[in-house]
Amino acid sequence: AASSIPADRVPDMEKRKLMNLLLLGAVSLPAGGMLVPYGAFFIPAGSGNAGGGTYAKDKLGNDINVEEWLKTHGPNDRTLAQGLKGDPTYLVVEQDKTLATYGINAVCTHLGCVVPWNGAENKFICPCHGSQYNNQGKVVRGPAPLSLALVHADVDDGKVLFVPWVETDFRTGEDPWWK
Ligand code: FES
Repeated sequence: AASSIPADRVPDMEKRKLMNLLLLGAVSLPAGGMLVPYGAFFIPAGSGNAGGGTYAKDKLGNDINVEEWLKTHGPNDRTLAQGLKGDPTYLVVEQDKTLATYGINAVCTHLGCVVPWNGAENKFICPCHGSQYNNQGKVVRGPAPLSLALVHADVDDGKVLFVPWVETDFRTGEDPWWK
């Protein structure tokens, strides 16, 4: 009752506010859209290798020399390294003491926790909601909907080079979901 604005003006003010919001949205949406291709263009360029790969880094940030790594990491070892786009990625040592030609992205496909390796169980077991993955990162128990992503672990100049994995997922025979 104390308001000086006549009751019939209120809807107009609300309408104007709405118009302003719509205008703001119309202006800012294309500007936001521009950021995506711009960012996507620069991320691969910064990864540091002409072939599109990234040298794996140990926890101190150093490149990983395969020979040195195998001296301190025995059969069936899975140890985290820094991978493509900084993703925590497991290096795998095979039973025959060679480095596997693939690495396993440690980011849980459920809600993104980093999944630890459990050597005694021979599985990756997510502490957040209990998802399980076999020793190659293939999902064996939900709620995770998908297997852990793969990368190639190549050897370049004696060092581990991660390269995006775009081929068939050898664990499932399917196209990779992470491409
Ligand atoms: Fe791994 Fe939910 S984040 S099970």
